[in-house]
Amino acid sequence: MDPVEKTRAAYDKIAEEYCKKTEEEGDRAFHEKMLDKTLNYLPSDPRVIDLGCGDGRDTDYLRKKDVDVVGIDFSKKMISIAREKYPGSSFIVSDIRDTVFPDDTFHGAWASASLINLPKSKLSHAEKEIYRIVEPGGVLCFSFKKGEREGFETSVMDEHERYYSYYTLDEMKEYLTLFEIFDSERCPEKVFGYDFIYCWAKARR
Ligand SMILES: C[S@@+](CC[C@H](N)C(=O)[O-])C[C@H]1O[C@@H](n2cnc3c(N)ncnc32)[C@H](O)[C@@H]1O
Repeated sequence: MDPVEKTRAAYDKIAEEYCKKTEEEGDRAFHEKMLDKTLNYLPSDPRVIDLGCGDGRDTDYLRKKDVDVVGIDFSKKMISIAREKYPGSSFIVSDIRDTVFPDDTFHGAWASASLINLPKSKLSHAEKEIYRIVEPGGVLCFSFKKGEREGFETSVMDEHERYYSYYTLDEMKEYLTLFEIFDSERCPEKVFGYDFIYCWAKARR
């Protein structure tokens, strides 16, 4: 089976458990600092897309800051949880690599731990699509697990294999061709035992 399809099916199966666990784990204060920092790189009243929104808490956080935001996720189950938890926010079932949005729709894109589920060979498909729907000069903030390997893994919380790609910052800079990384921060605490790096990248003109 295609690794992306297998990963999507796994998220559908584990969505409920996953969403409960993410509420307990991770440095939420730091994560929200990263969301706020992203807003500082955007114009006022920005339009933002939350790519791979999971349970939708980041989408809802941004909406409460008066951002015009939509969350997308390829897992139908994740989207149904997000809609139930945050009825005031907008969510759509969609693959990051192929969305319904017209060119230049958003000022910014937020991708928290979602591009890491793509094989490295498919990262450029996502990059092209994000580049298309974000304005020239728009900002993409994304987080990824620090490391070098890629492949299927089970996680601390379940036995359903999902595909993960780990990157070093230098490697990521080489993978991206349409966006230029201009800022990065390492998460001070491990999340589920992993080191995460947050990056901000500008769409090249
Ligand atoms: C590790 S979870 C992170 C969820 C959320 N962004 C957060 O930080 O809590 C990854 C999410 O990205 C979604 N995802 C992974 N690859 C995707 C793709 N190609 N298109 C859309 N969603 C994707 C998964 O379904 C899952 O909900």
